[in-house]
Amino acid sequence: MTRKTKWMIAAGLAVAVVGGSMGGSAWILPEANPPLRYTGVIITPRADDLLRRGCFDCHSNETRWPVYTYIPPFSVLIARHVAKGRKDLNFSKWEGKTAKNKAHKIRESYNLLVKKKMPLKTYSWLHPDASFSEAEMGMLKQDIVAVYGEKAVAPFKKKKKKKPAVKPGT
Ligand code: HEC
Repeated sequence: MTRKTKWMIAAGLAVAVVGGSMGGSAWILPEANPPLRYTGVIITPRADDLLRRGCFDCHSNETRWPVYTYIPPFSVLIARHVAKGRKDLNFSKWEGKTAKNKAHKIRESYNLLVKKKMPLKTYSWLHPDASFSEAEMGMLKQDIVAVYGEKAVAPFKKKKKKKPAVKPGT
């Protein structure tokens, strides 16, 4: 690396860090974590540890923001994932949810995990520890069933097109 490139990288980092601390647009630089936390138990303590490890960076107000999350273009993509992830499911807002809604979100989560659609692939590449082992998936399933019932681990049926109850013209 030449001296000039080193200087340019240092300057770029300085701009990103200063810009970040000035609280720029959430779409360009990470937003600060909102203060709301959930301190209760979501599933069971050991299952919650898995969620914390694999999901909380995008689905809670407890996002970790390592240095690279401040550097464009990653900053833009990551800020978007976190904003969208929190909007769909924010474990920090678990308190206000109804029992039915909780069970539904857990069912969605379990199904996405089984299909390996969550955590997002780009995230799993950067965080190999975010993916759960088979044993961990077994434990998660067991705990979900114990707390939320069998239905919370059931796959979703594909919606069938409804046949008209009465045939036209009869
Ligand atoms: C890198 C960020 C990221 C991580 C990590 C992540 N998600 Fe997501 N998640 C998203 C985004 C973004 C969406 C919004 C859907 C979309 O745009 O694809 C989403 C959507 C969801 C939804 C809602 C799906 C729907 O149809 O409404 C659930 C449930 C979910 N994630 C569960 C999880 C679980 C469980 C984990 C951990 C095992 C996890 N996610 C890890 C970013 C993430």
